[in-house]
Amino acid sequence: MAASDTRLAVANWKLNPGSIGEAKELFLEIRKEASRRGRVETVVAPPYPYLAELRKLTTGKHTFLGAQDLFWEEKGPYTGEVAASMLTSVGVSYVIVGHSERRALGEGNEEVAKKVVAGLKAGFTTILCVGEGERDTNGRYLSFVEEQLRSALQGVPQRSLGKLVVAYEPVWAIGSGTAATPEDVHEMTIFIRRTLTSIYSRTLADRVRILYGGSVNEENVRALIDDGMVDGFLVGGASLKPRAFGAIIGALHEKR
Ligand code: PGA
Repeated sequence: MAASDTRLAVANWKLNPGSIGEAKELFLEIRKEASRRGRVETVVAPPYPYLAELRKLTTGKHTFLGAQDLFWEEKGPYTGEVAASMLTSVGVSYVIVGHSERRALGEGNEEVAKKVVAGLKAGFTTILCVGEGERDTNGRYLSFVEEQLRSALQGVPQRSLGKLVVAYEPVWAIGSGTAATPEDVHEMTIFIRRTLTSIYSRTLADRVRILYGGSVNEENVRALIDDGMVDGFLVGGASLKPRAFGAIIGALHEKR
């Protein structure tokens, strides 16, 4: 576990909910859940069009705004893209990069690497998602994750590492209802930290928070914290249910 940092609960709303009204309602409920658990940093990453309105509902404490993606250029002929400075101007301070659902739409390691640099340069806490598509018995999934990490971090200088978060999200666990086992998650957190150590140093690697994502819910969250040794979670489905997400924040809050 990263020694000095607060635990992190990130709500990845993906392509939900369907209107700004619903988004506000959900945000307020999550804000209430988070305000009772002050030892956790709670982040909501809604679809882009909701950011500016939700910013008005943030209090600057406990609940923060994240973006689900960003583009590496600042302006120009890039139809449909959103730049870091635009996100900053609507109150975003976290960004998710390299989610497997974006990679499935064609984003490669090279694009992910540019986005990580852009996110860190803008001063965002940048959540880099890595994770294998499937598990095999001869450890190829480990080299796959290592390659994702090494290529994404190519342009990342040592001084930015304090703002980097790595989310281990095995693709087979996302939205499937079956999370990775705490033992598998623990093995991967050790592996990710070892890879970061070999790229940077032990001290710097220890500053990076490592999250798990993939079918986290109120039932499996405690075991994932106790035996998975993670610093928090990236949550999809359960983040649309305030009580379930509140239970996840609560479990992170209670863990000493
Ligand atoms: P899930 O999604 O919690 O619905 O599995 C996690 C994610 O994709 O970040």
